[in-house]
Parts: sequence; structure tokens; C-alpha cells
Amino acid sequence: MSSEEPLVGEKVYHLMVSKGDVARYVLLPGDPERVPLIAKYWDSSREVARHREYVVYTGKYKGVDISAVSTGIGGPSTAIAIEELLRVGSDTFIRVGTTGSLHRDIEIGDLIITHSAIRFDGASRSYIYPEYPASASYEVVLALVEAAESLGARYHVGITASTDSFYVGQGRPGFNGYKPYWIDNLVSDLKKIGVLNFEMEASTIMTLSNIYGARSGAICAVIANRETGEFVPGAGVDLMIKVANEAVRLLNEWDDLKRKHNKRYFYPSLIYK
Ligand code: URA
Repeated sequence: MSSEEPLVGEKVYHLMVSKGDVARYVLLPGDPERVPLIAKYWDSSREVARHREYVVYTGKYKGVDISAVSTGIGGPSTAIAIEELLRVGSDTFIRVGTTGSLHRDIEIGDLIITHSAIRFDGASRSYIYPEYPASASYEVVLALVEAAESLGARYHVGITASTDSFYVGQGRPGFNGYKPYWIDNLVSDLKKIGVLNFEMEASTIMTLSNIYGARSGAICAVIANRETGEFVPGAGVDLMIKVANEAVRLLNEWDDLKRKHNKRYFYPSLIYK
């Protein structure tokens, strides 16, 4: 037992899993309840662990080994999930979440694929200076785009703002209307610089993945539109789950092609070689 590397037997301390329990490809919803909703599309699945906010399922999707692990809300619990998943051998992470759109034409039920995230979170700042990029792996972005196209989803690709706060940190009034002056122009400023949406985990996942040489990406279903004021919990979630599962199948196919042709990076013409 070591305080530096906390284990319970062979299991990592928070997720309560050990090597062999979790696949290389991991889908990461925030909500533990969403894990079985993801796994219901798999050929087979089993609940591997359930501890605090972390629910872990592992199985096969169209023959590919896959896991889904809930992160809880926000950077701190998400950073723990990434740390412990890396320790048990996972290396490809896709956030599967919900989000608030900043633009009228990014509608409720649409999907947003993040290629990079503004690091308004605190957890990633414990790791590295704020100038370090929270960027997705181009392979994960491409797989999500391909999967979204194949399933006929309405989707958008771009920059996300990841915050630590759902209310005041995303420009909503706090309790009793509390709003500090520096939050007043947040939404309009972010819109001007092309930010598509708010959510709370992508920047942590992407920063840590970049530091540790893992691949990551994020897809979110739009349940809030901050311009129109609409809010529809659950909108687009089922389609997003289908797209994310399919993106894992594609990544596995492309990883096989890279191995076959002895290439480090996937590029489209590898498919036709
Ligand atoms: N998740 C967020 O972080 N913000 C929203 O507006 C909706 C979902």
C-alpha cells in the first residue's frame, strides 16, 4: 500500500478496476445512468465496477472491445478517471455528454464535436500552464465526423468552452440573481471568437490526454440553447450515443490499418491501400 499510488489490492483506488477490466477505447459520459444506455447498443456487456460517481461497463461493440466509464460532473472527478484509466491500460477517450449551445443555429438535439477546448476548468491547471492546448486527437475528431455523417446526424465541429461552474461560470445567474460584473459579457464575447458551446469536462480530458500521449475527443448533445433560451433535457442523447459507439468501431478499424501498413498516423487513403 502506497500513499503515492493508492491501490486496493490490484484495483485503482477510485474506479475500483484493475488491468484487464477496461478496454483500450473508453466512452466517458458524466452521468453514471448513461453508462447502461451506451452499453445497450453493444453485442455484450458487463458491469465491472460501481464506486462513488464511477460506473464502469466493459463489453464488445460490433466485435470491438469497448468500455464506458462515468466521470461525474467537472474537472476534478474527470481527472481522477483519466489518471486511473491510463494506469489500467486505456489510451483512447471520448467524452459523451450534454452541452449548451451559444448560437441560435446550433439547435436543440444537434451534436457538437469538439476539436479544441478553452480551459476554464481548474483541474487541468493543476497539471500544466494555461497556454498548453486542450486539443482533441485528429483521428478521434475524424471518426466522430464519419460516424455522425453515416448516421445522418446534424452536427457541428469546433471550439468548446469547458467550465467548472454550470451556473455563474457559464454566464447564468447564480442564486438570487447573483452575477459578478466580469461574467456579464462572457457569452457574447465567446460567441464573437467562434466558441460553439459550454460543457464541463472536455478540457480536462484533452489536456491530460495530450500530456500523457493518449488520444481523446468529445461529442455532446445540445440540450440548452443560450440564445433562444430553450432547454430540453435528453435531446439528441440517444443519437450521440450511437455516433460515439460507431466512432469506436471506426477507430479500431483505422488502428488495424495503421498496424497492417506500419504507419503511426491514420490518413484517409490508407483505407484504399
Ligand atoms: N451542460 C453544460 O455544462 N451546460 C449546459 O448549458 C448544458 C449542459
